[in-house]
Amino acid sequence: MSLLDIRERISNARSVAVLTGAGISADSGVPTFRGTDGLWKNFRPEELASPDAFERDPKLVWEWYNWRRELLSTKTPNAAHEAIVQLEKQIENFWLITQNVDGLHRTAGSTNMSEIHGNIWKVRCTNCGTIAPNHDVPIDILPHCPNCQGLLRPHIVWFGESLAQEDLDASFRALQNCEILLIIGTSGLVYPAASFAPIAKEHHAFIVELNLDPTPNSNLVDISFQGRAKDLVPLLLPS
Ligand code: OAD
Repeated sequence: MSLLDIRERISNARSVAVLTGAGISADSGVPTFRGTDGLWKNFRPEELASPDAFERDPKLVWEWYNWRRELLSTKTPNAAHEAIVQLEKQIENFWLITQNVDGLHRTAGSTNMSEIHGNIWKVRCTNCGTIAPNHDVPIDILPHCPNCQGLLRPHIVWFGESLAQEDLDASFRALQNCEILLIIGTSGLVYPAASFAPIAKEHHAFIVELNLDPTPNSNLVDISFQGRAKDLVPLLLPS
């Protein structure tokens, strides 16, 4: 089966879900998590993206996020992000589930989506819980809440934390109801997203994976294409 066949299937589908990971933003120049260029001062993301790390050393964690915000502020969506916006316009029931916190899908124009790991451009007060957009680059370290002076943290779901219920609900709804699931640029290693392909499969979705390398999902999906997201995803647009 070729990408053209998949395009044909997509053009006849009434419901499509898409799951994306860091690989789609790699084509915008954003380092992936598990690639060597994604490391900051030799810390693995698991060592910094956790409530324990923040409690131990909030300054270190904010310095890492400040570095990532500086890097992201120079990046723009690529042809794969844009193709997903077009899919949303063309498919009757469309839902995007992204693990990316970089906000590039939103900048590209996607709206039917769950950012299941949060968004790096939002902050949340550890005291009063207020969530607010914040695009400061650099951000004050340590940043404090304008309402209550509590310490602000990134509005991101860290290792060991639960996803927001509404994001889980929307994701499960999309996975259970989609005719086609596209999995783009994710290593498939981090839960719960790692369980998403099996859920869609149980509900008889046709699953297509687009990734630079083989992944643990490659055996489970119906078809897997290897290549760059920015080259492959635009080829799936119904003509
Ligand atoms: P990973 O870094 O684990 O995986 C990125 C995947 O994208 C790998 O399988 C690469 O082979 C692939 N890839 C790289 N460049 C690509 C390209 N140009 N086109 C297509 N594929 C490409 O990133 P995620 O799977 O997103 O969590 O990681 C999942 C979560 O783990 C992240 O959301 C993050 C992280 O720790 C949080 O921040 C909470």
